[in-house]
Amino acid sequence: MPTIDIIDHILLDSRTLQARVAALGRAVSADYAGKDLVLVCVLKGGVVFLTDLMRQITVPHEIEFMAISSYGSGTRESTGAVRVLMDLETDIQGRNVLIVEDIVDSGRTVAYLLRTLWARKPASLGICSLLNKPSRRVVDVHLDYVGFDIPDEFVLGYGLDCDEKYRNLPYVGVVRPGC
Ligand code: IMP
Ligand code: MG
Repeated sequence: MPTIDIIDHILLDSRTLQARVAALGRAVSADYAGKDLVLVCVLKGGVVFLTDLMRQITVPHEIEFMAISSYGSGTRESTGAVRVLMDLETDIQGRNVLIVEDIVDSGRTVAYLLRTLWARKPASLGICSLLNKPSRRVVDVHLDYVGFDIPDEFVLGYGLDCDEKYRNLPYVGVVRPGC
């Protein structure tokens, strides 16, 4: 697939992503066998990953969505001022919840989600993030499943956006400097 102007290079191509997502699906299926599982997708970035991941999970599960604000529009730094824009439809008390995220950067968003969701008394609460930027971490968070550790570069595609665009790209690309 040809790249677009603002992409400097492809970091993770579609085949690489699909193979890793399949492996994550197998791991989640094994770990949650016989358990009641709810996947909580963090909108909007997690949606492409969720829809591929859930089709690789072989145990029965439900999906739920949550939207939170972490970045100001057009900025690349999370402010730490996270809030819920759209909440879950279901009560997660006593259930096994797995958060499905696109990327963990500073860790602030996921730390906020953990605090918020633990307060609702789930039986378990895990995190499955497609991407992880360990060098950017500000808040220490334990990630149960990670697709790829990536360097400190701004990426887009496969759900990740640049100013709300390019979420549809089937690969993860590094944005050209100055974009
Ligand atoms: P954190 O709170 O700093 O961990 O930020 C997490 C959120 O920031 C992710 O869910 C993304 O929406 C966004 N984000 C972080 N890094 C990138 C990136 O390289 N490209 C696009 N979005 C990103
Ligand atoms: Mg996100």
